[in-house]
This record gives sequence, C-alpha cells and structure tokens, in this order.
Amino acid sequence: MRFRPSALFRYGIPAHESERFPLDWERLFGRRAPLAVEVGFGGGEYLAWWAGQRPDWNLVGLERPPECVARAARLLERSGADHVRLVRGDARYLLRELFAAASLERVLMQFPMPWPKEKQAKHRVSSPDFAATLAMVLRPGGCFELVTDQDWYATESHDFLSGDGRFELSALEREPEREFRTRYEQKWLEQGRSIYRLRARLLEGGATRRIIQEEPLHCTHLDSTLTEAAVAALAGRRFTAPGVVAEVKESFRAEGSWLLKVVSADDAFSQIFYLRLVSKPDGSSLVKVEPQPRPYPTAAVRFVVESVAAALRDSLAPGADLSA
Ligand SMILES: C[S@@+](CC[C@H](N)C(=O)[O-])C[C@H]1O[C@@H](n2cnc3c(N)ncnc32)[C@H](O)[C@@H]1O
Repeated sequence: MRFRPSALFRYGIPAHESERFPLDWERLFGRRAPLAVEVGFGGGEYLAWWAGQRPDWNLVGLERPPECVARAARLLERSGADHVRLVRGDARYLLRELFAAASLERVLMQFPMPWPKEKQAKHRVSSPDFAATLAMVLRPGGCFELVTDQDWYATESHDFLSGDGRFELSALEREPEREFRTRYEQKWLEQGRSIYRLRARLLEGGATRRIIQEEPLHCTHLDSTLTEAAVAALAGRRFTAPGVVAEVKESFRAEGSWLLKVVSADDAFSQIFYLRLVSKPDGSSLVKVEPQPRPYPTAAVRFVVESVAAALRDSLAPGADLSA
C-alpha cells in the first residue's frame, strides 16, 4: 500500500506536540460526541467498519508501528470517515495520558499480542495498571471489551479487572456472535482456533498517577559560558532518581551550539530526543529541549534538563576536574 501524506495529515494526531494534556478531543474533532478508543487497531479494518456503524461517535485508534497508522489512515481516507483519529505510540501509557478522567464511552482491544512467556509479561497491555487506567478514563457505565484467541489471556484480564473491584464483568464468552471479524480473527478462525470475549462495565471511577506534566517544558540558564570539554564530558552520563532515568547518548556541534541526544524513561515509558546547549553573547548559556522531535513533557524530560544543567555548572566551576 502506498504512503499517503495527505491521509496521515488528515487522520494522524501528533499527540506529543500537544500544548495540553490530556488532549482536548472535542476541539480536535470539532464536535462534542461520545468518545471511544480501539487499542492496537492493526490495519484499521475494524476502525473503518466501526466508523460506519457509529457516525455519531468520535473514535480514536492507538497503535505502535507507524506502518499500521499509515495503512489505517489510507483505509479511512478511502471510506471518507471524518470522525476517526489515529495516534502512534504505546497504548499502555497513551490511554492513561491522552484522555481525561471519565471521558470514554468504550475501550476496545481485539487480539492483543499475548506475549505468552513469563519474562515477556511486562509487554502485555492487560495488567493491574491497565485496569486502573480504564477505571480512570472510562465514564462510569462505560465499557471495556477484549476479544482474543488466548483463553488464558482472557482469564488473566478477567482477574485483573475483578481484582480492581470497580468493574462489573460479563461471563467469558466463547465463540461470540460478531458483526465484523478483524484481520487476525479471520486468520485464527481459519486455523480452527476459538475466540473469547470479555466485557467489563465500569461501576465507579477513580484517579491514577499520570506521568505527563501539564506545565510547558522550560529551559534552564547557566551563569557561565560553555566549553567544548564540559559538553564532551556529558556523553555517556546517566542520571537517575526514583521513577526516572536518563542517559546522554552523544554530543555534537550543530549550528554554532551543541546538541545532546538523550534517552529518558519514566518507569518503562522511554523517549528519545535532543537537548540544545547554547552559549549566549552575555557570557551566560542555556539548556533547552529541542522542539523536533518533541518529547512528551514528562518528569524524566524535566529531570534530564535540570541534571544536565547541574552537571555543566559543576564542570564549569573554577578548578573543576573534567578528567573524572
Ligand atoms: C495481533 S495484532 C491485532 C490487530 C487487530 N486488532 C486485528 O485484530 O486484526 C496486535 C496489534 O496490537 C498492537 N499492539 C501491541 N502492543 C501494543 C501497545 N502497547 N500499544 C499499541 N498497540 C499495540 C500491535 O502493533 C498489533 O498491530
């Protein structure tokens, strides 16, 4: 399928560039309507079908690979639907960070990757944290629906949701009647696998901790002029604090200033971005986050700006030893 920038422009939401978190979906859709999310939409076949069934809802799809987003955007463009938007990224975090409390009518997850080995369990979307996220973003009375070919995944998800205590759960259905079969569903049915469906209705909402902070990303000033040696000494530095970690991968000269390539993580939510270090004519300097690619404004991003500035202050102090 050919890449279509116009389709991506129309349906893709560069959520990391938002000035506001959670996002203002009514403004982005240009209308007030019930809001629903499909997690892991694959090629977008179900989303496109769902859009036809629910012209009166606003639908958002979350997916990881950019190729899936491009493919779904192309499909949606062909269908002409105007009430669907796509966000690329990890739904384990984005569902919690991009949607206001009690704002969702429905969250749908169909044939998630099961990650069956125990050492892969951290990659599974379904978890106690996911149950807490659902309890925050669904409106009371709103529903989560899981469809899977893995009975143990459905049972495990049932246990997480019932353990949370805020959901009314349906009995696990086997071979449910479905109006539309997803691409993976068709594949598994052809292989003779069983299909399971679990539905959970939120009884009572609640809050959970978000990692995106609402204040805009700032820059930090230093009183001294940067030196080549002080900047070079930052490469490979790792900064840690409870819940956050950041590492400077490399430093290089760019347009009369320096860039640092940084990897940060808030818990397991990792981001790659750049910090620009600028010496100013008045003898001071500053450390700021580069706008492209713009990271989500998390605690780890703020932490690395402050940590890099502190490390530079130390190494630019009179008598500092940069060989350490
Ligand atoms: C087996 S495919 C199913 C696709 C589609 N729902 C279907 O039934 O045809 C699982 C999809 O979930 C997506 N996925 C897995 N983990 C994800 C995550 N953490 N956030 C967003 N999408 C995820 C994968 O990229 C993949 O496209």
